Amino acid sequence: MALCSTRLLCLFSLLFSHAVVHLEASHQVYKNFQSLQCNSSAYQPYRTSFHFQPLNNWMNDPNGVMIYHGIYHLFYQYNPLGAVWGNIVWAHSTSKDLINWIPLDPAISPSQPSDINGCWSGSATILPGDKPVIVYTGINPQNQQVQNLAMPKNQSDPYLREWIKYPHNPLMAPTPISKINASSFRDPTTAWQGPDGLWRLIVGSEIGNTGVAILYTSKDFLHWILAHYLHSSKATGMWECPDFYPVQINSSKGLDTSTTGANIKHVLKLSLDDTKHDYYTVGSYNPNKDIYTPDKGSVDNDSGLRYDYGKFYASKTFFDSSKHRRILWGWINESSSQEDDIKKGWSGLQAVPRSILLDKSGKQLVQWPVVEVKTLRGKPVGMNNIELRGGSDLEIPNIKATQADVEISFKIKDFKRAEALNPSWTNPQDLCTQKGASVKGGLGPFGLLVLASKGLEEYTAVFFRIFKSKNGYVVLMCSDQSRSSLYEKNDKTTYGAFVNMDPVSEEVSLRTLIDHSIVESFGGEGKSCITARVYPTLAVEDKAHLHAFNNGTATVIISKLGAWSMKKAQIA
Ligand code: FRU
Repeated sequence: MALCSTRLLCLFSLLFSHAVVHLEASHQVYKNFQSLQCNSSAYQPYRTSFHFQPLNNWMNDPNGVMIYHGIYHLFYQYNPLGAVWGNIVWAHSTSKDLINWIPLDPAISPSQPSDINGCWSGSATILPGDKPVIVYTGINPQNQQVQNLAMPKNQSDPYLREWIKYPHNPLMAPTPISKINASSFRDPTTAWQGPDGLWRLIVGSEIGNTGVAILYTSKDFLHWILAHYLHSSKATGMWECPDFYPVQINSSKGLDTSTTGANIKHVLKLSLDDTKHDYYTVGSYNPNKDIYTPDKGSVDNDSGLRYDYGKFYASKTFFDSSKHRRILWGWINESSSQEDDIKKGWSGLQAVPRSILLDKSGKQLVQWPVVEVKTLRGKPVGMNNIELRGGSDLEIPNIKATQADVEISFKIKDFKRAEALNPSWTNPQDLCTQKGASVKGGLGPFGLLVLASKGLEEYTAVFFRIFKSKNGYVVLMCSDQSRSSLYEKNDKTTYGAFVNMDPVSEEVSLRTLIDHSIVESFGGEGKSCITARVYPTLAVEDKAHLHAFNNGTATVIISKLGAWSMKKAQIA
């Protein structure tokens, strides 16, 4: 490990080593940086207060998420030696409330031939008799991806501090007969048990350019047989971190992963290595044939539905048996350069855990921050029934604007000024990019300016525009980062999503969690989510402001606004 004792030395090594050596999985490998620890006494305005992040270094995918004996476990891909991807182990933290976390020692690190070159992503399954196990991808001495098993050393330790590996690992390996590409075979899901008592799990892969979910079955969890593909989709490339689970129709409860039967749909989520999007389909699972079929209209490729239309990748759900809910974790990476990540000494966060349910329409999911997030709320600042005229701006006072939870609902009375939706405007991200917050409209843009500097030199705008289409109105939600920072070197992509709702019969609502460098937004009661990373230079600490704005010509009514300064969670 190269330890830079001074910042100057760090910067020096950064200047002289720019080599991107190669890609592993979806990650850029900066050989010179992956074991470089900058003892950074750096100024840290971008560390968050209530989003999970380790004290330092690199983090990517959430792994093995579960609840065991009342304790939530979050494992994650972690580089103990630096702020870029490399040297990957399973770091481990536990919590009683999903908000405050206790860091423990890494649970799984390379030690066996079957994982000597890395312990990559995987999932936990609680076996009958309350026995948690983990199946994860290991990288063997030939750099092949294989699947391994680990179990707690002491099941009576609720923190599950120590994990031992099955001596006969790997459980699953690519063989010449299987035609599996040994460098595209990873990220096993939580296993589920079918009505025949067999265990099943899927592993992400690709055959040619077709993304595939390879299904394995087992009687005893130790011996696994390659069955077939649970599902595949052409031209989607490598499927990383698949997730497969049941959701109940018209219900506010989540389901255990093995549940099948009436009134149940299944969700298959895939993380696309090619585009870095987590997309999902809603469909049906036939447990007798072990085939999953997306519903008609549920688009099975990168233009399908996404958990989040901003930065959110390699996500994973688990069933929280203590509260009968399914919870989603997802990795939010940086929008800054590797050089800046190394300077600040860390990279990567987890989105706030979200409850996930099937929407009333049965066609998509809805997500909402777990209810425990509210325990961090301070005194509310509230407003009701405020007219926000076209071209106006309203500062929301008495808020710690770098660390806040804001809920705002807009009532639209007059739709006359809604612009016509051009039928060619099918890509919401392009539309938001073309029509950013500063582009005046008819009905919208209206929404929030968050992490705004006093003179509005910097702000991130999260807003809606309403268009008139042939069949009614279309609601567009945008997160515009183009003015988020005066610093030029960050990725400031603008994100967008359509919100599947009717603004005539429903209010247009937005909840935004603001956390220093994260803007995590839930539109239409969680029907469309957009997460952004931003790095303001002026709107930091007590110098950030929060506004509601309307840059359209039509008046909108803020029917309800609640804003809360957030307390700091205990995380690292
Ligand atoms: C997704 C991913 C996984 C892999 C892990 C390695 O971000 O590439 O496919 O297991 O990260 O850290």
